[in-house]
Order: sequence, then structure tokens, then C-alpha cells
Amino acid sequence: MAENAAKPIISFRGVKKSFGDKVVYDGLDVDVFRGETLSVLGPSGCGKSVMLKMLIGLIGYDEGSITFDGREVNVMSRDDLSQLRVRIAYLFQSAALFDSMTVEDNVAYGLRERFWNTMSDDAIRARVEKSLARVGLEGTGSMMPADLSGGMRKRAGLARTLALEPDVILYDEPTTGLDPINTARINALILTIQKELGITSVVVTHDMGTAFHVSNRMLMLGRGRVHFVGSPEEFHKTRDPYVRAFVEGKVIEGTTLQSLAPH
Ligand SMILES: Nc1ncnc2c1ncn2[C@@H]1O[C@H](COP(=O)(O)OP(=O)(O)OP(=O)(O)O)[C@@H](O)[C@H]1O
Ligand SMILES: [Mg+2]
Repeated sequence: MAENAAKPIISFRGVKKSFGDKVVYDGLDVDVFRGETLSVLGPSGCGKSVMLKMLIGLIGYDEGSITFDGREVNVMSRDDLSQLRVRIAYLFQSAALFDSMTVEDNVAYGLRERFWNTMSDDAIRARVEKSLARVGLEGTGSMMPADLSGGMRKRAGLARTLALEPDVILYDEPTTGLDPINTARINALILTIQKELGITSVVVTHDMGTAFHVSNRMLMLGRGRVHFVGSPEEFHKTRDPYVRAFVEGKVIEGTTLQSLAPH
């Protein structure tokens, strides 16, 4: 893929973000190219979720620029932001479903909220069924979330995201807490969603198996910036101690990931 020649669909440039005294980003530069899957790695608390939330305007940034299709997120109006959140769907870390609603109503929720005046009930129902089938949950529409396993709940959350037919999906820890079989199932879904639907994907994960399996490129955060970015093969090969420690889950005597990170 001639990635560097292509124009990025998403671009972070010199982004700075602090909460009070706590500096989360100190010059973040990231490009996401159309159609690729980019995974984002880094220790807990380094700012992975904040990166996704800044991108869809849930959290503002202090300096720098974040653009989607060339448009700056920080200055978007409420209407622009609501449109942005249809084109960029965020699969939240908790992937929380509404417990008091059926699976069908959960998956339809975003559609009803955003397209109440343009989509008929039948069109919504058809979209919900298609989305449930895509994640292997056909026929579960009338079930309640409490009746689903953890793996099925994650997939129902993914169906809710797919129902909006976004250009980009941001997956925040899509496999955390799942057993290996359900993890493999989600990994396979992330791949087919990219390949068959052409959806650009950003996958935040602690799971190196997921990262190596689904990514075209991988990015490692460290001390408020991008520490390393490359293909899965480059991640396998690099001798960078911070990346190695993370990839291999190694504890290096007397060090922590934070102390290994440069800057
Ligand atoms: N709304 C907020 N107000 C204040 N501090 C926040 C807010 N959101 C995040 N933070 C802080 O920003 C830092 C980065 O948080 P973030 O949730 O992005 O971490 P993360 O990399 O996603 O971690 P994890 O892997 O545990 O999900 C943390 O120190 C967190 O406490
Ligand atoms: Mg997080």
C-alpha cells in the first residue's frame, strides 16, 4: 500500500492535551489512511481513550490540530459534530448496552436518534437485522442483554456501531475480558469489516494477538507522543526496548514501561 503518498482521512498534528497538571499529550502526530486498520498501543493511562475521544469531539484539545477529511474537529458546530459521530463510530471500551432494552432496540438506538425523520421503521428494522447478521447474532433481536454472554454483548455493541454505516470505526479495547475463542471471533470480525465493507479502523488494544492479527500498521504511544509506528513486521523486528518490553510482556529489572519511554 502506498500509504505515504495517500492523503490521510484523519490527521493529528502537534496535539497537546492536559488535565490540570497532568500532561497527557505533548505533541501528538498521527495519520490514519483510508481503508487501513491502525492499532494503538500503550500502557494503561497513557491516553489511548483520550485520543479517540478528542477525535470525535467528546474531549477538546489545548493546542495543535485534529482533522477529519480536512476539517478541524475543535471548531465544529454541534450539528457538524453529530454528523461526524455518524461517519466516525466509537465502540466504547465498556461497549455498554442498555439493559432495559431488547437487543433490537439497542442496535436501533443510534439510528432512531439520528435518522428519526428520514428512516422508516421498516428501513430501521432491516438495517438492524443486517447488522446483527453481520456479527453472527441473527435471531437475537428480541433477547435482553442480560441473556447474552460477554462475547455476544460485545458483538451486539459492534452491530449497533455497524448499523450507522460509518466510514471509520474506533474500537476501544474490543477484546478485553473475552476468552480466546470470543477474542478470535472479534478479531475475525474486525478483519472482515475492513475487507468487505472497506471501513477504516483504529483499534486501541492491550492484546498483542489482536494487534498483530488485524493491523496494517501499529502505533505505540509513550510519554505523550508517538514512540514508534510501523508494520506488524517492523514491530516484530525492532530492538527498541520499550516496544520489545510491551510486545513480549517482559518486566525488565528495575524498570517500568514509563521509565523506558523516551522524552
Ligand atoms: N475527563 C477526564 N478528566 C480528567 N482526567 C482524565 C479524563 N479523561 C482521562 N483523563 C486522564 O487522562 C489520562 C489518560 O486516560 P485514558 O483513559 O486515555 O487512558 P488509556 O490509555 O485509555 O488507559 P486504559 O488502557 O486503562 O484504558 C489518565 O491519566 C486519565 O486519568
Ligand atoms: Mg482506555
